[in-house]
Amino acid sequence: MSVLDLVVRRTTGLADGIRELALTAADGRPLPPHPAGSHLVLECGPARNAYSLTNDGTAPGEYTIAVLRRGGGSAYLHGLAPGDRVTASRPRSAFAPVRTARKHLLIAGGIGVTPMVAHVRDARRRRRDVELIYVHRPHAGAFAAELADTLGPRLHRVTGRAEFLGVLAGALTGQPLGTHLYVCGPGGLTDRVLGDAAGAGWVPQRLHLERFVPAALDPGARFVARLARSGRDVVVPPGTSLLDALERAGVAVPNLCRQGICGECLTPVLAGTPLHRDEYLDERERAAGTAVMCCVSRSETDTLELDL
Ligand code: FES
Repeated sequence: MSVLDLVVRRTTGLADGIRELALTAADGRPLPPHPAGSHLVLECGPARNAYSLTNDGTAPGEYTIAVLRRGGGSAYLHGLAPGDRVTASRPRSAFAPVRTARKHLLIAGGIGVTPMVAHVRDARRRRRDVELIYVHRPHAGAFAAELADTLGPRLHRVTGRAEFLGVLAGALTGQPLGTHLYVCGPGGLTDRVLGDAAGAGWVPQRLHLERFVPAALDPGARFVARLARSGRDVVVPPGTSLLDALERAGVAVPNLCRQGICGECLTPVLAGTPLHRDEYLDERERAAGTAVMCCVSRSETDTLELDL
């Protein structure tokens, strides 16, 4: 069974834009077991996407994944209903808990929490020491209730860059010898965590990274960012993000994930219509059009005037 023929059993909304799918074998047979932290590659219409399994993998009767809607293959999966069929690879493991670890320090950004859910469930079953730092949008943390229930004070939920960096700095020091660190999330966040860990003396053998591959965004059209405070115009060509264009023009904008998730690069809009492509703003904020996440979003109008 190198390719799995699966059927959707349940779909459940977990948080804004995040839907959980429970999948079983179409022929009713048991599914291949897998270590915690494994992922499936699913056929999503014309696309193939990888999703972390959130179940802990021991004799699974079903697989569960959580899908953040970001267009393309994820939109296809959000459109599936119970009874629909989907084809997937067998589970692949590149992010399993190290069994000899004395403690597991987990760090998740946004939907990067999904393999950590499997790690936490596995650690609970095996009575392993585990701690999780979970950075997410305000009021939008998928699995937050379960994680809080399981981890209690071992869960640190943070929603801002300064708070995150403070919690991270504390967590990187004073861990028991033999602790392993696992990180999954947007590239900006994982780079920061691994860099800070190395700076704090963590050896590479105790650092584990699950790469978070963002959905490819189309290059978009050229527009002009008008900077109200300085009166400057910055041209944003196709294929260049507004954030990159601003930085190249010498305009610093706070940022962390650079993938539209963390909210750090929120920039007030004074005129023009943003083309929102982020996961941070809610529907009401998008409709208001008074802010843009400049790492991924663009402009529907030829000019977007920013409070910069
Ligand atoms: S840097 Fe995180 S949303 Fe833009």
